[in-house]
Amino acid sequence: MTFKSIRQEIASTMARDPAARSGLEVALLYPGFHAIVLHRAAHAAWRRGWRFLGRLVSQFARWMTGIEIHPGARIGRSLFIDHGMGVVIGETAEIGDNVTLYHGITLGGIAPAVDSAAQVDTKRHPTLEDDVIVGSGAQILGPLTVGRGARVGANAVVVRDVPAGVTVTGIPARMTVPRDRAEARGFMAYGTPSGDQPDPLINAIETLRAQVATLSARLEEIEAGAVPRSDAASERTDEEECDASSG
Ligand SMILES: CC(C)(COP(=O)(O)OP(=O)(O)OC[C@H]1O[C@@H](n2cnc3c(N)ncnc32)[C@H](O)[C@@H]1OP(=O)(O)O)[C@@H](O)C(=O)NCCC(=O)NCCS
Repeated sequence: MTFKSIRQEIASTMARDPAARSGLEVALLYPGFHAIVLHRAAHAAWRRGWRFLGRLVSQFARWMTGIEIHPGARIGRSLFIDHGMGVVIGETAEIGDNVTLYHGITLGGIAPAVDSAAQVDTKRHPTLEDDVIVGSGAQILGPLTVGRGARVGANAVVVRDVPAGVTVTGIPARMTVPRDRAEARGFMAYGTPSGDQPDPLINAIETLRAQVATLSARLEEIEAGAVPRSDAASERTDEEECDASSG
């Protein structure tokens, strides 16, 4: 793993975690980042045939982070594992670029080992294509494919292929948000459109701004003498009432 790719992993974490405040924070305090760096080392050892060393590094990473990635798993650029505790990624799992995983996720096998020797090199775990987001607690089981940009809801159990761009939820997972609606959104932290959640402080400020604008316009009208006589009279009455009550 090069220095450049480490910087890329840190940058991708910062881009996708609203809570990440600095690169140093990510490098020192993010278990997902530690798990990925250690997985790159474990996978390099695995590919060279140093299987025991690969498993050793993988087990160390699991002990340190709570994230278990088999050294044989193939992982693309900029994987972001948020929180991470309880994530399990199986030996023949494949993960594309810019994928986001939350905690408690399994990319697991499903076929019972009739002949475990014959199963060693067969594909038993899922493939996640680029830009997939998987919500916390989701279980994705078997050699299926989750298509590019798809979103898997929290606690879903996925046992069939997921088409690109859609959102699936539930047990067994079914499509709840179609591709055209989900695709327009780009990356969203937690897989959820933040634009749908108004900030109450901004709303209050906007309301006050609108009220000030209305009052200013009204004041200008009064000063310009454009207010009808009846309105002005009722305003005078209001003023007098005010004076009377304060006096
Ligand atoms: C699945 C998810 C991406 C959908 O987000 P969305 O595009 O905003 O979809 P909506 O909120 O419009 O929900 C669409 C429908 O799916 C349902 N739904 C949403 N998430 C669900 C879930 N995890 N399980 C079951 N149903 C779910 C909604 O109730 C809604 O149903 P309705 O149409 O009958 O009302 C999101 O709900 C989710 O689970 N994100 C993962 C968040 C996460 O893991 N956070 C951990 C952070 S630490």
